[in-house]
Amino acid sequence: MSLQTKIKKSEIAPGEAKSYQMGDSKVVVCNVNGEYFAVSDVCSHDDGELVSGEGTLLDGCQLECPRHGARFDVKTGKATRMPAAVEIKTYNVKVLNDELEVELTE
Ligand code: FES
Repeated sequence: MSLQTKIKKSEIAPGEAKSYQMGDSKVVVCNVNGEYFAVSDVCSHDDGELVSGEGTLLDGCQLECPRHGARFDVKTGKATRMPAAVEIKTYNVKVLNDELEVELTE
C-alpha cells in the first residue's frame, strides 16, 4: 500500500525538521539546505518521538532524539550515535514546484 501526502515547501525552513501525521504513521520531513528528506518519527532505540511540537533543528543532516540523544542521518536513516544502533525508515520525497510529495510505502 502507498499513501502520498503533500506539504508546502515553505512550512519547513532550511535546517528544520517537522513531524506530520500521515495515515497511521508519523513522518519527519527535513530540509537540509534546500534538499528534502523524510524519515519515520519513531526512534529505533526505544520508540521515542524524534520531533515533538513545532519542530526541531537539524545538525547538518543529523536528527537527534530528545529522549536519550541517539542521532540519525536523515538522508539514509542510519543510526550515527548510540544508544540507537538500528536505522530508521526513510521515505521518498518529490519536489513539485512549491509542494513536497511524501510517498509512504509499507
Ligand atoms: S528513544 Fe531515542 S534515544 Fe532512546
